[in-house]
Amino acid sequence: MVGAVVLDSAGNLVGEGWHQKFGGPHAEVFAFATAGERARGGTLIVTLEPCCHHGKTPPCTDAVLRSGVKRVVVAMADPFPKVAGGGLQILRDAGVEVIVGVCAAEAEKLNVPYRTLLRTGRPWVHLKWAMTLDGKIATHTGDSKWISGEESRKRVHELRGRVDAVLVGRGTVIADDPLLTARPAGPRIAARVVVSASGDLPERCQLRATARNVPVLLYTSVGNEGKLAGWRADGAEVIAIPASDNALSPDAILADLGTRRFTNVLVEGGAGLLGSFLDAKAADEFHVFIAPKLVGGDTALSPVGGRGVKLMADALELAECAFGQSGRDVYVHGFGAPG
Ligand SMILES: NC(=O)c1ccc[n+]([C@@H]2O[C@H](COP(=O)([O-])OP(=O)(O)OC[C@H]3O[C@@H](n4cnc5c(N)ncnc54)[C@H](OP(=O)(O)O)[C@@H]3O)[C@@H](O)[C@H]2O)c1
Repeated sequence: MVGAVVLDSAGNLVGEGWHQKFGGPHAEVFAFATAGERARGGTLIVTLEPCCHHGKTPPCTDAVLRSGVKRVVVAMADPFPKVAGGGLQILRDAGVEVIVGVCAAEAEKLNVPYRTLLRTGRPWVHLKWAMTLDGKIATHTGDSKWISGEESRKRVHELRGRVDAVLVGRGTVIADDPLLTARPAGPRIAARVVVSASGDLPERCQLRATARNVPVLLYTSVGNEGKLAGWRADGAEVIAIPASDNALSPDAILADLGTRRFTNVLVEGGAGLLGSFLDAKAADEFHVFIAPKLVGGDTALSPVGGRGVKLMADALELAECAFGQSGRDVYVHGFGAPG
């Protein structure tokens, strides 16, 4: 996430821009496009070091030098190996005054998912669920529409529109037949991902019917990919991974998503998939909606299955936890481990 502003030589704001999508023009390009000639002699302020390599777009350092700004203020250097201070050096060598580190902590926080992808090769994992006040994500019959109210569902759609992939387990596909798209569409179109070691997915469902319009990825065990030939014929991509105890390691799934340069992924449930991600400690950010409803039922699912921990002392305690109102629901937001 990168934002840039341009000030003219008198310090007036004359251009603004942000990086809208992977492969699209960088923030500086938009900011200079509005500023035009007014940038000459002025200042570029940008949250991330301007790039200096030919990637999907030409180097931003060229655009900075062409613009005629005499000063560049950068919040943080780009950890991307092909940049990593090189952009700053080019600007300094060309006689531009370069100031680095203004609001560095804020910028680094903004880009924790990106830094995680570069450092670990896996995306930043958001976990989301909606539950009743008595801690259920569905009734004992599996019905879950709707637990949370309209405002909370709107927030979930906004979240889907910002991530690169939305993940669910086989149980959710069968119980809910979800579409998993952002409605209305957001700045990104998330791939829809189903995890099923058995590969026993329904022949007819919304995901399969729309796989040609919005990407569908299916992760299954080596040996079961043949069961998904029909899905493949309908446009889904099938990825087979060796299973252990009839389960796929979340780390292996995330490593594959990382090779696709997915930066943020959202695990939406159900209990089985969320449990396997928590057991694997693959949980970076939480979005939990608690509705003032009670459904009861011994067999009604709670949000997180999996193995769990033995002792309360081993519980995962969210960091930077915030509690907000979302219509009639409570929205709990926090982090799995300090970013
Ligand atoms: N309230 C909410 O926010 C919310 C959100 C989503 C779903 N739900 C509800 O949750 C219920 C479904 O939950 P659920 O726990 O039964 O199902 P689930 O988590 O959606 O799916 C479980 C299945 O996913 C596959 N799976 C999960 N983790 C895996 C792993 N690490 N490796 C390989 N496969 C994995 C397995 O399929 P295989 O058996 O094929 O291996 C497993 O049987 C439904 O009632 C749905 O309505 C509620």
